[in-house]
Amino acid sequence: MTLRAKVERLTALTRRRGMLRQAFSGLDSGPGSGIHGGLRSGRGTPHADNLLLEETVRERTAALESANAKLSSSLEQLHATQAQLLFADRLIALGRIAAGVGHEINNPLAFILSNLEYIHQELQQKERLSEQDRQEILEALAETRDGAERIRLIVRDLQTLSRAEDVGSGPAELASVVRTAAKMAMHELRHRARLVVECDGVPPVQGNGSRLGQVFLNLLLNAAQSIPPGNAEGNEVRVVARPGEPGHVLVEVRDTGCGIAPEHRERIFDPFFTTKPLGVGTGLGLAVCHGIVTSLGGTLTMESAPGQGSIFRVCLPVA
Ligand SMILES: Nc1ncnc2c1ncn2[C@@H]1O[C@H](COP(=O)(O)OP(=O)(O)OP(=O)(O)O)[C@@H](O)[C@H]1O
Ligand SMILES: [Mg+2]
Repeated sequence: MTLRAKVERLTALTRRRGMLRQAFSGLDSGPGSGIHGGLRSGRGTPHADNLLLEETVRERTAALESANAKLSSSLEQLHATQAQLLFADRLIALGRIAAGVGHEINNPLAFILSNLEYIHQELQQKERLSEQDRQEILEALAETRDGAERIRLIVRDLQTLSRAEDVGSGPAELASVVRTAAKMAMHELRHRARLVVECDGVPPVQGNGSRLGQVFLNLLLNAAQSIPPGNAEGNEVRVVARPGEPGHVLVEVRDTGCGIAPEHRERIFDPFFTTKPLGVGTGLGLAVCHGIVTSLGGTLTMESAPGQGSIFRVCLPVA
């Protein structure tokens, strides 16, 4: 090593020692200096530093505990608010159902009562009935019977909604279930669309045949009612069954009808949601379908393009 190199090395060493001494000086000199300076002012001895450290840790722990307690209380409040909201939501749903039941039952009930009143008066006031009186009473009785039948159907649908347990059993053959439903929907379909059914060749599914029939009848009636009458050749309702996800059969009911407005999509499965005029729709059809399908462990979904038609997909577990 040259003399010059030795001098440079010695200078560097001395400088480093000086820096180290400066750094550690806080341990035994003034406050705020040295390695504890940032943590707390040094007071001199390592013992004092330990005490300081412990105190700082205690303070920080206390601060953390208090923050934790505040968080827990906020979380509790959040849970309580969430529960209140859910309750409010259920109350709103219940309110809607009650309003729907009231509305739908009140109407036929009103004419049942007024017809009964009329028949009662006629029979009380007249000792002998003319042929015309007799006819009028018979008409009033027929209307009364129709009204009672309408109420019976609403009650039946509501019971289907609340009693999901009797949807089970099976196996059910989809092809025959769909064919039976199609026959029942034919009076609505005939003047609106061609009906195509391709349901053969799929395995039997779980579920009571008549309950499943109710599902497809409601879907077919909706499909029919989405198409105005008069152009049956230009429109189509198609029911196709094929294997779905493993262990399931997928049935699609497609129509070329009016489609479903985006703002209605969230609500179509709600009981009593309807866009149809009074006396045409009760708004229970899809709620009933949804109840039956989900209690069988299946799913019911919808895809729709306004003005172009809708597809309802029923996915059912194989028996
Ligand atoms: N295939 C479809 N095309 C267009 N809109 C549909 C279709 N299916 C259902 N909808 C819409 O969803 C609403 C709810 O249907 P849902 O079957 O529950 O009741 P509804 O048909 O109005 O009455 P109900 O079935 O009780 O006679 C309908 O009023 C209609 O607006
Ligand atoms: Mg319907």
